[in-house]
Amino acid sequence: MKRQDDPTGSGSHDPVVPRDAGHVEPEPDEGADLAGLVLALIGSRHSVAPKRLSAPGPDTAQLLQMVEAAACAPDHRALRPWRLIRIADHQRDAQADLFEACSRERAPETPPADLQRSRDKAYRAPTLLLAVLRTTPDDPEVTELERAVTLGAALMSLLLAAHGLGFGAMLTSGRAVRSARFAHALALAADEQAVCFVSIGSAPAAARRRDRPTAQDFLGDWV
Ligand SMILES: Cc1cc2nc3c(=O)[nH]c(=O)nc-3n(C[C@H](O)[C@H](O)[C@H](O)COP(=O)(O)O)c2cc1C
Repeated sequence: MKRQDDPTGSGSHDPVVPRDAGHVEPEPDEGADLAGLVLALIGSRHSVAPKRLSAPGPDTAQLLQMVEAAACAPDHRALRPWRLIRIADHQRDAQADLFEACSRERAPETPPADLQRSRDKAYRAPTLLLAVLRTTPDDPEVTELERAVTLGAALMSLLLAAHGLGFGAMLTSGRAVRSARFAHALALAADEQAVCFVSIGSAPAAARRRDRPTAQDFLGDWV
């Protein structure tokens, strides 16, 4: 789980997905204890708050690996009901303006210090993605809830891949993300809904570990 210290490519104006980007096949490793690796990866993952995430973020190849991990999520009838929008470095000022505008719209009397706090959120992690849920095409077999499950699974895979590559990450939302102004500014389609941000970057060495509930908290029999 060692991080490679490559500089982030997020400041570039180039598209995040190069035209020749291909599918990344995992390296076969016959001797690996897959269960041990997976359980260690999942058990050691924890969120790192965006304000604690610093440069370098993932380079483009690493980011694509994370997104390809996300694309392995269970997806009923392969509807691909989600996408990710990268907020590049040169778009952070616009993102800050948008956060401020959403705060003003919600509460016109918001004090300047709170507006500044809203703005600050736009500049935190070196890599900032917006996760978007898509509710079309209509398919009677796949409810909106199922589509949200697919997005959730995709995001967990992405978080795990980030962790495995040595980065910290966290999902955050907030009221701005759910506003019509936000959807309009991000040019979301009528069948799309912004769900949360994904912040990714380098985490402090002594990042906090979280106590987890036990299996008994979740698993029971049909009685
Ligand atoms: C869709 C989604 C949005 C979230 N938004 C926020 C948020 O805005 N602020 C926050 O503190 N935690 C938020 N969380 C929770 C954190 O991402 C994180 O899961 C939680 O702090 C638990 O940490 P852990 O991932 O280490 O278990 C969100 C989680 C999800 C699934």
